Amino acid sequence: MTKHMEDAKVVGQRVLNATTRQIDLIAPVIAADAVPGQFVNVQVTKHSAPLLRRPLGVAAVDRENGVLSLIYRILGEATQLLAEACSGDVLSLVGPLGRGFDLQAKQPLFVGGGTGLAPLLYLADAFRARGIVPDVLMGGRTATELFWKDLYEEKAGLLGLTTDDGSLGTQGTVLALLPDMLSAKAYDCVYVCGPAPMMKAVSAAALAAGLPCQVSLEKYMGCGLGACLSCSCQGVGKRLKVCKDGPVFWAQEVAEW
Ligand code: FES
Repeated sequence: MTKHMEDAKVVGQRVLNATTRQIDLIAPVIAADAVPGQFVNVQVTKHSAPLLRRPLGVAAVDRENGVLSLIYRILGEATQLLAEACSGDVLSLVGPLGRGFDLQAKQPLFVGGGTGLAPLLYLADAFRARGIVPDVLMGGRTATELFWKDLYEEKAGLLGLTTDDGSLGTQGTVLALLPDMLSAKAYDCVYVCGPAPMMKAVSAAALAAGLPCQVSLEKYMGCGLGACLSCSCQGVGKRLKVCKDGPVFWAQEVAEW
């Protein structure tokens, strides 16, 4: 797929919780091509420091209005600078990048945690556009981390919630609810995005249940373009570049989580 460099005008920033924001950008060229699971490289500042670009997964696309939405956690100087971008500011984007999700499923189950729930939002929109409503299992440490529930309420069918401290939904990790969810319906694919230990455990359970499973890996990315090898990880029988071969993989392609 063709990637583009596009100057994108910020049209809004939405506070999702204390450390998580949604930024909406006018980027009609990239929005026209981006598929769920892909990401864009965002130039967060015109200055050379801290680093020119950050990879952020696409959380929503409004093709009619050419708007691309990204959800990010404020983790360091670069994302802090991004959080300070105001409506009307222009950011340079490169994208869409990477391999997205397979959309063949007729009865999908999503399992997500943290900002891993961002690319699954766009995936939910893509399924709904095909008349398919995904079920969603999400986990967080506390109820405040599960602000995602409100974002998914209108997109998901069955919505399973877990928190480590039991402040919302079932106490425990997503693994506490996964067996119940897996037996609730005849799912034909599980899509997982979140912390690596969670993806490893959920994909093992899905494969053991005979279900195909796609995972979206998160690795540090330097270039985001397949040139620097900073994102490489061990796949089955070969090294994988997460930015180029992924970030979405079939679970059985991944050897190192
Ligand atoms: Fe440079 Fe993947 S980030 S090769």
